[in-house]
Amino acid sequence: MSRIELKHIDKFYGSNHVLRDINLVIEDGAFMTLLGPSGCGKTTTLRVVSGLEKPQNGIMTIDGVEMINADDAYYAEPSKRGLNLVFQSYALWPHMTVFDNIAFGLKIQKMPKAEIEKRVMDSLKMMRIDMYKDRYPTELSGGQQQRVAIARAVASSPKLLLLDEPLSNLDAKLRIDMRAELQRLHRELGTTIIYVTHDQTEALTMSTKIALFRAGELNQVATPMELYNNPIDLEAADFIGNPRINLLEGKAEMKNGQLVVRSDLGGHTFGAADLTEETFPKSGAFDCVLAIRPEQVIISREKVDGAIPVSVYASQPAGSETIVTLRADKDEFLVKELGQQHYELDDNVWAIIDQNKINIYNKETTRLIKRAV
Ligand SMILES: Nc1ncnc2c1ncn2[C@@H]1O[C@H](COP(=O)(O)OP(=O)(O)O)[C@@H](O)[C@H]1O
Ligand SMILES: [Mg+2]
Repeated sequence: MSRIELKHIDKFYGSNHVLRDINLVIEDGAFMTLLGPSGCGKTTTLRVVSGLEKPQNGIMTIDGVEMINADDAYYAEPSKRGLNLVFQSYALWPHMTVFDNIAFGLKIQKMPKAEIEKRVMDSLKMMRIDMYKDRYPTELSGGQQQRVAIARAVASSPKLLLLDEPLSNLDAKLRIDMRAELQRLHRELGTTIIYVTHDQTEALTMSTKIALFRAGELNQVATPMELYNNPIDLEAADFIGNPRINLLEGKAEMKNGQLVVRSDLGGHTFGAADLTEETFPKSGAFDCVLAIRPEQVIISREKVDGAIPVSVYASQPAGSETIVTLRADKDEFLVKELGQQHYELDDNVWAIIDQNKINIYNKETTRLIKRAV
């Protein structure tokens, strides 16, 4: 069991306020990813959870037991928190074999020899590196060393596993393999994992929940699907997704209980049921932003009812997919099509967009006012 709750956490380095009122619940068994650009406070949050940093304000509980209470200046020792931390730089002991690197911490705990043997081999097998148990770190690739570091953390059966950008030193292919390994590891262990990354693909592929940071604050906490389909503001929309989401300006107005939007894509009318709680002007036109994922647009070579006439500005076939830049009046937007499609530049084609998949943001507040369904 491991449920973590952070309440009103503030962290200052001198006058630099690096964590601002962080409130986050990490459910037992979750794979929670802290996501955001460099410098937004992800590592600091992990260090607060682990006990390497003391926040100036706030409370943290693990399974209901207080580990931090800044008001009482109470900070439980890292060793009392039942967790294990793997950093980006994984620091294996160079003079020890893979086996001994993992066994070392267990020997210190005075665990019986047979139990150590079993745990080391189980964790090595789980990371698929049991064949390297007698090698020294220098005889392993970066990816293999990283697996040893993770196996070492797993072997101590932590209630909570903290991973700080553990895949950032690996090449692209190995990163994809390791994402699969970590996903399986999480399921097999059932351990709560807090995972830090700036890579949105990593976050989307492995997490059960994502906490999206923005300059020391939590911007949105949601499942990967919800974060992808309904980013809470324009910054979140722009951060998630590759290629980036299309953002087009428009004018919106409430008419007869419906939201009517006009843009270079023409007119769209949205029912009240899909509107969020966010505030926006209920009378008169106001500036809005339409957000459309590149894969939500279909290109038709023939005129179809409801389709938008556009021209092909650029077409980039990339083997498994083709990225097409379309131009509608003054606006450009990207389309991602599967497979190898061929378009001539300046071809006149039609864009079919399912309006249910369009997000509408209030330009002034940047907040989501119409959800995708
Ligand atoms: N030990 C430290 N002393 C002073 N400032 C720090 C320290 N560690 C981090 N910071 C600052 O805190 C902010 C958040 O850093 P960090 O949590 O490492 O970000 P991230 O992991 O999201 O890249 C940054 O502005 C960083 O410069
Ligand atoms: Mg960091």
